[in-house]
Amino acid sequence: MKTLIIALALTATAAFAQEDIKVSADRGKAVYMQTCMACHQLTGMGVPGAFPPLAKTDYVTGDTRRLVAIVLKGITGPMTVDGKIYATGMPQPELTFPILKEDKNVADVLNYVRTSFGNEAKEPITPEFVAEVRKEFAARTTQWTEAELKAFPAKGTAPAK
Ligand code: HEC
Repeated sequence: MKTLIIALALTATAAFAQEDIKVSADRGKAVYMQTCMACHQLTGMGVPGAFPPLAKTDYVTGDTRRLVAIVLKGITGPMTVDGKIYATGMPQPELTFPILKEDKNVADVLNYVRTSFGNEAKEPITPEFVAEVRKEFAARTTQWTEAELKAFPAKGTAPAK
């Protein structure tokens, strides 16, 4: 009996520690509608020449730390996505949408993006992870450039500009 109770307690702890990506993604859909949809569109396919797609791009399916950093700081200047150049720029999202100041909303919206539009991520981005990345780049006030994102800084070497 004692073992059973311990086993149940452990299972419950594990469930709290990491919730299923789908549960977070379901909440994230509403965040997406408010904070990304106007540019990246309902389909996640963007608008040719203006807004890049979020479907299976390297930035979406690649390094999650870089992806979080993109949503926290935005992007400036031209960037190539799937062989096409975009130069509209992505203003720092949380300046336009204060709900993105909450780590949970950033995690939810990215889990939605990473499981939609043909993307098939299995591991959720957690609010704790968003908080870590936010802290790491707290001193930075400017948007990323493509060159910086391509050579995304190794952990602990964040440029504070
Ligand atoms: C005001 C329009 C706008 C909004 C709102 C916006 N983006 Fe973007 N986003 C862009 C543009 C434009 C680029 C291309 C960067 C450039 O032109 O320098 C981009 C690039 C990106 C990229 C990297 C390239 C790619 O397509 O993979 C990601 C990832 C991304 N956005 C995610 C998001 C997410 C997630 C949200 C919502 C939280 C969001 N964006 C909100 C305009 C926007």
